[in-house]
Amino acid sequence: MVYSGSGNSFPSDFLWGIATSAFQLEGAPNADWTSWDRTLTDKPRVTNHYELYREDLRLLKNLGVNSYRFSLEWSRIQPGEDIWDYEAIAHYQEIIDILIENNIEPMVTLHHFTHPLWFIKKAWHNDGSSEKFLSYTEKMVSTLRNVKYWITFNEPYVLILGGYLEGCMPPGIRDVSLAVKALKNILICHGRAYDIIHSHIPDAMVSVAHNMASFVPWKRWNPADRFLSRVAGYIYNRSLLDAFRTGILRLQFPLRKAMETHVPIKDKIDFFGVNYYTRMHLRFNPFKKMGVELRHRDIGGYGLTDMGWEIHPQGLERVLKRASRLNVPLIITENGIATRDVQKKIKFMKRHIDVVERCLKQGIDIRGYFYWSLIDNYEWLEGLDRGFGLYRVNFDTLERRPTNAAAYYSYLIKSRSSF
Ligand code: FCB
Repeated sequence: MVYSGSGNSFPSDFLWGIATSAFQLEGAPNADWTSWDRTLTDKPRVTNHYELYREDLRLLKNLGVNSYRFSLEWSRIQPGEDIWDYEAIAHYQEIIDILIENNIEPMVTLHHFTHPLWFIKKAWHNDGSSEKFLSYTEKMVSTLRNVKYWITFNEPYVLILGGYLEGCMPPGIRDVSLAVKALKNILICHGRAYDIIHSHIPDAMVSVAHNMASFVPWKRWNPADRFLSRVAGYIYNRSLLDAFRTGILRLQFPLRKAMETHVPIKDKIDFFGVNYYTRMHLRFNPFKKMGVELRHRDIGGYGLTDMGWEIHPQGLERVLKRASRLNVPLIITENGIATRDVQKKIKFMKRHIDVVERCLKQGIDIRGYFYWSLIDNYEWLEGLDRGFGLYRVNFDTLERRPTNAAAYYSYLIKSRSSF
């Protein structure tokens, strides 16, 4: 870490970034989500970033960020099981080239929720699925130039929760044992992808982006609520950290037998990516699945976002402290707010970045912060109007318009960095 010496706590090589994902900006004709969610039927190209990428990359430049996290759309690159689309690969290489020309460090996500249709028919719980993902990984890592930072999987636990427990995301399964099998395959894939990436790029920095939340009991005096919030915190936040430390994945759902399995990922991370958005309140409710009721409540007075999520900046400190026990550098790979209220967005950003600064002062090794997101985009099950962008998008005219939050992020970067 190189300190700036300018009196502020951010190292001069701190990554000030923006995070996006391909499908949320571009859509993709051969991706599972295109047929899964009909919202996109009349807006299949979403913000049309696939064609307007040069214009959008200029927005990054204007913001003054020095890094950009984006994903490759696997279904564009491999539209059929044995078909590679070299134009799509060249397209992503061009994005990387433009970033490098502008001194913006690329961070590439290989998997951000979407799959090619041919893949999802077999999906993660089937034997052989890992080989498919790994051959895509090998192809990308051996072909794309000038990428040091790699995220193998964005939010593997959210993928399993949505795709295998709630069934609200592809492949739309609800089955605990298939969920465990799929998670194990994904983690094995991460471990092997880590080795593949390092075999081509010895000094690569590789991680997953893990969604972490702050969990609290609904009523502190209630032992059942306290127990549930501890269990949720362990499963959702910490079991993955432990798996990276020990190579053992241990899951214990309330009222069920604990499950332990070996996953070959011990120490297979060079930094740890944390996506943080909110805090959740848990209460015991015998009428709910596994006896758990989960709510967002505006307890701290910061309000709720347009996703209904509680704004809780202190939770970021809590999860960063927890993640720091891994003893690898941390990067906040996503943090942002759904709102059209620009003042609210500015306050959100400032409060969370203040927390990052406080953690740096306490000696936590944080190397970057990526704001979600550049422009308004497709927010999965919530559709097109959640307003996560620093730039607003008119989805009919495709016009991008800056909000004051964009100017504010630039100001924060300038005032706290010295790159
Ligand atoms: C995260 C996802 C990202 C985006 C934000 C709001 O969980 O990684 O794609 O939808 O939430």
